[in-house]
Amino acid sequence: VFVDGVPMRTVWFAPHGEDVVEVIDQTRLPHELAVVRWSTLEDAARGIETMQVRGAPLIGVSAAHGVFLAMAADPSDGALTDAIARLRRTRPTAVNLGWALDVVEAELRPLDPVHRKEAARVLAERLADEDVEACRRIGEAGLPLLLDAARSDGRIEVLTHCNAGWLATVDWGTALAPIYRAHDDGVPVRVAVSETRPRNQGALTAWELAGHGVPHRLVADNAAGHLLAAGEIDVVITGADRIAANGDVANKVGTYLKALAARAHGVPFVVAAPCSTIDLACPDGAAIPIEERSGDEVRLVAGTTWRGGVDAVRIVRGDTPVANPAFDVTPAALVTAVITERGVVPATTEGIASLFDR
Ligand code: MRU
Repeated sequence: VFVDGVPMRTVWFAPHGEDVVEVIDQTRLPHELAVVRWSTLEDAARGIETMQVRGAPLIGVSAAHGVFLAMAADPSDGALTDAIARLRRTRPTAVNLGWALDVVEAELRPLDPVHRKEAARVLAERLADEDVEACRRIGEAGLPLLLDAARSDGRIEVLTHCNAGWLATVDWGTALAPIYRAHDDGVPVRVAVSETRPRNQGALTAWELAGHGVPHRLVADNAAGHLLAAGEIDVVITGADRIAANGDVANKVGTYLKALAARAHGVPFVVAAPCSTIDLACPDGAAIPIEERSGDEVRLVAGTTWRGGVDAVRIVRGDTPVANPAFDVTPAALVTAVITERGVVPATTEGIASLFDR
C-alpha cells in the first residue's frame, strides 16, 4: 500500500545493512503512525506478545524476522533452538506462527552456523514476499464471491470483523484483499467495520479503508445482528487465525456470533486466509488453542486524550473479574466458502484437503 504517497509494508529490514527490523507499531494506531525498531530476539518476541504486530500472517513473518535477529547475535545450534522456542510461546492461536517457524527451522538447521544469519535474512524476506503474493491472489480469487453478492443496482455492502487487512499481513490483507480489488475496479462497495472490543482492531480496519478511499462505517460489535436482520449486509467476510482440517475456523472473538446471525438471515459468511493458516493436524475446532489475554484489555479502553496523546482509561473497578478469550471458533457448517491463494473451496474436510493435492 501507499501511506501518504509512500509505499509501505508492515515489517521490513532497516536500511544500510543494520541488524535491525522495523515494524509499524500497531498499538499506536489509529492515533499515530509510528515505527518501532527491533534489535534483539526479545524485542521481536515482546513485540508479538504486546501486539505491536498482530494478525495471523504478519505474526508468522515477524517471527521469521525475529529469528534473523537471534542469528545476528549468535548463530549457534543452541541459539537457534532457543529462539524458535521463545517465539513459539508468544501467541498460541494463529498457526501461521508455528508454520513460519517450522519453515525457518527446516531451512536454517542444516546450515553451517556461519551462514545462518544471511540465510535467515533472505528467508524472512522471501516469506514476506510470498505473503504479499498470497494476499494478492486471495483478492483475485475472492472478487467473484463479492460480485455474486451485489444488489441489482451493483452496490455491495460488506460486514467484516477485526482487522484482516494489510496491517494483519505484510501487504493487501486477506478479508480486505477482495474488497480493495473490487474498489480499485470501480465496484461500489461499502464496508461495515465492527469495532472488535476489547482491542478495537476495527479501528485499524477503518484507518486502512480510509487511507485507500474505501467507503465504510464503523459499527459497534452489537450492531451486527440488527444490520443483518435489516437487510443492510450482502456478505460477511473475515480472516482466520487457524482453520482445522474439517473447515472449522478460529478467528477474533465475536466472529462466531456474526456467522450465526448471517446464517439466520441467509447472508453468505465467507472466510479468507492463506493456506499457511490451515492446520491439518487439528481435526476440528475443539483442538484449536484459544488465547486468554490480560483482563486489563477489557477493563481499559485506549484512545486520544484532549491533550492529543494516547492514553487508556479504566471503565470498571480495577478489581473487576474478567474473562478475555481473544478468539472463538466458527463451526464449518456456518462457513459458506474459504478463499485461499489456491482458490475457493467449501469449508469441508474434502474442500480443505483439495487445497493440498494441487
Ligand atoms: O489478536 P489479533 O489482532 O492478532 O487477531 C487478528 C485476527 O483475528 C484476524 O482476523 C486474523 O488474524 C486474520 S488476519 C489476516
